[in-house]
Amino acid sequence: MSKVLTITLNAAYDLVGRLARIELGEVNQVETLGLFPAGKGINVAKVLRDLGVDVAVGGFLGQDNVGDFEHLFQQIGLQDRFQRVEGKTRINVKITETEADVTDLNFLGYQITPQDWAEFVEKSLAYCQQFDIIAVCGSLPRGVSPVQFADWLRQLGNVGVKVVLDSSNAALTEGLKANPWLVKPNHRELEAWIGHSLSSQSEIIAAAQKLRAQGIANVIISMGAQGSLWLSEQGILQAQPPKCENVVSTVGAGDSMVAGLIYGIVNQLPTAKTLEFATAVSAFAVSQSNVGVPDLRLLDPILQQVKINQIEG
Ligand SMILES: Nc1ncnc2c1ncn2[C@@H]1O[C@H](COP(=O)(O)OP(=O)(O)OP(=O)(O)O)[C@@H](O)[C@H]1O
Ligand SMILES: [Mg+2]
Repeated sequence: MSKVLTITLNAAYDLVGRLARIELGEVNQVETLGLFPAGKGINVAKVLRDLGVDVAVGGFLGQDNVGDFEHLFQQIGLQDRFQRVEGKTRINVKITETEADVTDLNFLGYQITPQDWAEFVEKSLAYCQQFDIIAVCGSLPRGVSPVQFADWLRQLGNVGVKVVLDSSNAALTEGLKANPWLVKPNHRELEAWIGHSLSSQSEIIAAAQKLRAQGIANVIISMGAQGSLWLSEQGILQAQPPKCENVVSTVGAGDSMVAGLIYGIVNQLPTAKTLEFATAVSAFAVSQSNVGVPDLRLLDPILQQVKINQIEG
């Protein structure tokens, strides 16, 4: 089986809670769902572990509050490649309101020094050779510019590993220039990349085709409850998840999808089966407050309801 590494450059603790409606400027009582060591790459790794895939995790962690991360890595068996840096890993607040809108309050985290970055680039380019797939997920910490990030992605690609990129904003825009092997922007991230709104499926496909044309082998556009599109050399697949009656939190739906895609790829499932599986894992994620699949049998009823279609481009 292939070896998988996920990279989280801007790790975070997620403080997740729920309340009917946020009243701005008022005191709000929040139902606490938990404080989880997180960050997108770590979320992807957690789901992959649940799915039985061996994973290593890397990136940066603040040395002052590293405890819960180390505990998690030990508890679930994630190989720890994280570089410790001065300071604390940030805490992000995620509040789900009754209508299932999630408000994210993302704080700034540790500051990466030029020395930290140089060390990271050198070490990661060496250890990445032990892996077949590297998923690079989430935002950039202070001190790492989008251009530096894209340079590093390019070097990773040159080593010959399959680079999966799931990021946003300038990190995504620059990172896409490095032509990763697989990307999974959501609908809004694709709009930000192309610079205008995309209101129909054909517009979304046309934008995604531009990414394919520039040299990205696999372009997956996720569209929340509307499912996703996967453009590859095999054409265009469309996935529709079942309607989820009990949406607890959409936090981590995208990360769960990336994990499901990687699962299919490392197990060499056909493309349509991979997308079907990834759709089920991501649809399952919205029914819970945190990411993960505690029991694989929970996916079966969802899998049966996922619809996959080949469509004309
Ligand atoms: N309400 C929902 N019902 C069913 N499936 C959903 C729902 N929301 C998301 N999904 C599934 O999760 C996938 C990814 O969701 P989405 O497009 O919201 O990702 P994202 O915006 O990248 O999420 P994240 O916040 O984790 O980065 C969708 O393609 C779909 O398969
Ligand atoms: Mg996302």
